Amino acid sequence: MNRRTFLAKGCALCTAVTVGGAAVLLQSCAPLPTFETRIEYGMITVPVAAFGSTDRLLVNAAAFPYSIALVKDGPAGMLALLLRCTHADAQLAPEARGYSCRMHGSKFTAQGSVTRGPAARDLERLRTEVRDAHVYIHIPERTM
Ligand code: FES
Repeated sequence: MNRRTFLAKGCALCTAVTVGGAAVLLQSCAPLPTFETRIEYGMITVPVAAFGSTDRLLVNAAAFPYSIALVKDGPAGMLALLLRCTHADAQLAPEARGYSCRMHGSKFTAQGSVTRGPAARDLERLRTEVRDAHVYIHIPERTM
């Protein structure tokens, strides 16, 4: 079972709700709620309501190879972190306090700072805009 299949079907205790036409999985077995969506016109749009009561949200877009961690950053700001390990491009796994790489063991904080190598660089931050109760994440063409 791959990650997307697990997120969609794997946990009997998980509950799916709809926010803005996309599914938000409220998972009792995963460290972060997950928002499933797609890229349109080079952007991902996430309703702020998808956060619920959490400060971090895992965003998966169809056909995009990496998850994105969307993190509330201060009263009005948002961080969008590409969960691609800066050591050798492996997908990172979210944890309660950050992200880890199962390939060689690198670890990152919830805000994307590297805390354990072999990765030497912080996670890539994607440009965001917050307006009209939505977060717009700009996806650079080189990452698609
Ligand atoms: S690819 Fe992540 S630590 Fe090597």
